[in-house]
Amino acid sequence: MTRSNSKAELFNAMGLGPVWELKNPTSSMSENGIEPEPEPEAASADLPSLDELHATAKLPSLDELRSTVAACRACGLCETRTQTVFSDGVANAPLMVVGEAPGAEEDASGLPFVGRAGQLLDRMLTAVGASRASNVYIANVLKCRPPGNRNPEMAEIEQCSPFVFQQIAVSKPKVLLLVGRFAIQTLLGSKKSVGELRGQLHHVTVQGREIPAVVTYHPAYLLRRPEEKAKVWDDLLLLKRQDFTQGSA
Ligand code: URA
Repeated sequence: MTRSNSKAELFNAMGLGPVWELKNPTSSMSENGIEPEPEPEAASADLPSLDELHATAKLPSLDELRSTVAACRACGLCETRTQTVFSDGVANAPLMVVGEAPGAEEDASGLPFVGRAGQLLDRMLTAVGASRASNVYIANVLKCRPPGNRNPEMAEIEQCSPFVFQQIAVSKPKVLLLVGRFAIQTLLGSKKSVGELRGQLHHVTVQGREIPAVVTYHPAYLLRRPEEKAKVWDDLLLLKRQDFTQGSA
């Protein structure tokens, strides 16, 4: 949102509508000749945009978010999970990787990307000088395993994705690496395929901050289609060019 929003839109969005207007704003006297009270500050001042309001809103800590996620029963996945899978790596790291959802190994261990795809992800990160031990924070769009590793459902993504946006807001990465269709489409708000979106730098706006985002194929897809390795390598070079090793934003 920008400052061009009408006062009414902003007030409604903040739950403060409707906005009352003077019938004859040019007259400084009321009918009974008494000088009218000045309009309250909030109604006449240059109002902050919603992005600016969000940017100053108090965020939970990552520990608080982790506890909220652990107790979440907002969708049916809570019935079949062993445990929630919140994150791995270094909080506030300059690079944050976002994947799709936990698989069987992740559901068992409580950590994201620890199966075969995760091991490949670790090798991809090593190739660009990154690791979850030093400068990477990792999370998924879904915090619970979809049974049988089926694709996430739209309703599950809608329920769960606010958590990953909050993780980004709190961890404040300098660059994002989005792997696979579900992470990419959710964070970019796009319906395009990975093939259409990869090969260029995107941006994700979180709490008024524009964060550069590199997108690529999911490592699990790469295990099935090793011939796509060259494209992923190109994407990793684009990531390396973002110079994320120079500290977080
Ligand atoms: N695939 C993902 O997208 N995330 C994981 O944590 C594991 C596999």
